[in-house]
Formats: sequence, structure tokens, C-alpha cells
Amino acid sequence: MMEKSLGAVKISHEVIKRFVKEGDICIDATAGRGNDTAFLCSLVKETGKVLAFDIQKEAVKSTKERLENEGYSQIGEVFCESHENMDKYAGENTVSCITFNLGWLPGGDHSICTRAESTISAIEKGLKLLKSGGIISICIYYGKDNGFSEKDAVIGYLKTIDFRQYSVFLGDFINRPNNPPIVAFVVKNM
Ligand SMILES: C[S@@+](CC[C@H](N)C(=O)[O-])C[C@H]1O[C@@H](n2cnc3c(N)ncnc32)[C@H](O)[C@@H]1O
Repeated sequence: MMEKSLGAVKISHEVIKRFVKEGDICIDATAGRGNDTAFLCSLVKETGKVLAFDIQKEAVKSTKERLENEGYSQIGEVFCESHENMDKYAGENTVSCITFNLGWLPGGDHSICTRAESTISAIEKGLKLLKSGGIISICIYYGKDNGFSEKDAVIGYLKTIDFRQYSVFLGDFINRPNNPPIVAFVVKNM
């Protein structure tokens, strides 16, 4: 989801730009309408690769269309697959960035949304796929139809990640009402 004012997604993209270069391999763990997939394609360019996952056919179709419209269909590949299986598509220590955008498909069914158990399992796998100096970004939407349980579980898990191997950062808009999305980054130490 794109926000007009400073928001979690905008911050995540500004940070990701510093971690991804031309020719890199990236993963969009929650393709949705393809906003992050297209953004990652714009960074890795023709010599790179972006693997995008979503469990909904509608999201896969939407993301493929977006990649075609923006001229990225040779760079991005979209799979109708849970992000828990991302390790079947990329090798350990090969990926420079993995984006997670939690919640439901924009304009879609609110009951089909990311869930704590599979999100945490996918983050765990993502940690292994990251190369050193690589980054996982997690934009966490919560407090609406999806409640607080996924956010609480994900943050609880992020706190347990070994600080000797990974640095974990969490950012929140503390003066905004209505539970605005927050953003977390996990960087694999060099
Ligand atoms: C907030 S949306 C993502 C928005 C997207 N980044 C965009 O640019 O539109 C969350 C997406 O995660 C997907 N999702 C839910 N569970 C998933 C899973 N286990 N694996 C992959 N995608 C999943 C949903 O279908 C939904 O499209």
C-alpha cells in the first residue's frame, strides 16, 4: 500500500534503496498489487531478479499485470505460493532484500490476510536466504480487521533473533491515531 505522507512503506523503500544494487536477487514475500515487486525490479534492473509470492490468484494476476505495464516482466517472477516456501526458490546467502507487507490484499477480501504463524516461519527462512549485509523489511498493518495478534507475535519473534548475527530495528508513528502501520528492518550483519 502506498501512503501520500511519510509512512511505513515510504520509509521501507528509502532504506531498501541503500541495500539493493543492480544485478541483485530480491524477494517480495507478499506481492499483493505488486507495489513492492515493481519497486524492487526498478532497483535490480535487467541483470537482477525479483521473486514475488502471494497465496491469492487475484494478487498474482494483478502483480503480473503491473510488471508487464512497467516493463519489468523479464525481471520479476510471480508465484501463487505461500511465502513459507520461499526457500524452494532461492539459495541460502544469495538474497539482498526481502519485503513483507502484512495484512490483506488492497481492495480485496479482508478475511484473507497474513497470519502470525506463516509470517514468522517465512521470516525465519528469509534470515537464511539473506546474504551478509542484506535486509528484510516488514511493514506491519494491524489493529483493524486483522487485530493485534500478528503484530504482537511478529514483534515477539523479532526480539528473539540473535543480535550477533542480525540487527533488528522497529519504527512507529507515536503521535498518530488509529494504529498506523509500523516498519521493522532485520539486517544480516557483515
Ligand atoms: C498488504 S497485502 C500486500 C501489499 C502489496 N505489497 C502491494 O504492493 O499491493 C498482503 C498480501 O499478502 C498475501 N498473503 C497472505 N498470506 C500469505 C502467505 N502465506 N504467503 C504469501 N502471501 C500471503 C495476501 O494475499 C495479500 O495480497
